[in-house]
Amino acid sequence: MTTVENSATRVDNSETPVVLGGTRGGPDVSTVRKDRWWISPVITVSILTSFVVYATWAAFVGKNYYAGSSLHRDLISPFYSPCLTASCVPGSTHSPTISWWTISPALLILIFPLGFRLTCYYYRRAYYRSFWWAPPACSVVDSHKSYSGESRFPLIFQNVHRYFFYFGLIFNVILTYDAILAFSMPGEGGIGVSIGTLILCSNAVLLWLYSLSCHSCRHLCGGQVRSFAKHPWRHKFWKFVTPLNAKHMQFAWISLFVVALSDAYIRLVASGTITDFKIF
Ligand code: FES
Repeated sequence: MTTVENSATRVDNSETPVVLGGTRGGPDVSTVRKDRWWISPVITVSILTSFVVYATWAAFVGKNYYAGSSLHRDLISPFYSPCLTASCVPGSTHSPTISWWTISPALLILIFPLGFRLTCYYYRRAYYRSFWWAPPACSVVDSHKSYSGESRFPLIFQNVHRYFFYFGLIFNVILTYDAILAFSMPGEGGIGVSIGTLILCSNAVLLWLYSLSCHSCRHLCGGQVRSFAKHPWRHKFWKFVTPLNAKHMQFAWISLFVVALSDAYIRLVASGTITDFKIF
């Protein structure tokens, strides 16, 4: 290997001074933009903060997460599925349960979907910009004096994203199973379609779209391939996920909204606040 190649492949962990302000008109100028660039980070902070507050409350509350046979339904909140503890509401669990876990069942499983979103390449960009202002928008000066990327503790742990992706696929299968169960209407003809059915089906489809559009998924399909001609199936998968990948941001936001909507709707049905309307 030549000296040039050596220097090109060397990992540089040193900090790089942020000089963007200086290059755009001097150190006292934070931006030359005249538009309302701050709207996007403000909206991002508002939505992500609202979601975190709601999800934390929903995860700790530990009740009204399942509408079962007494309501002629089989609807479980995605925040509580799979329900794995002995304290799970009867009918909400389809597996052996864990007896020693005595707090909310949601806290046992949420680390995987939340870890998947927290380490997502798109969300990283969104919260680095909106919460840390690093930088808050294009052509706006970084609020930090130096930049070390994700090569150091703690941000180096963002590299576990691909493993959360694998766990996310398992959750997608489980939530798809839940969506199929949502067609069950015990005591009301056995099978049918309600608003709850449509919401859980939408949730499952959007979670698949979010996962299949993931950058790690695209890399898994087409990464480290020198010639697609020698890997025709990987080429097919790569061609399938690439257009989805282009819409990853949209899938990230819509699926986040629908997963919260699913929990809120089932919570209202399970608590008796509303009735799940049967369409047919
Ligand atoms: S990059 Fe967003 S889920 Fe993987």
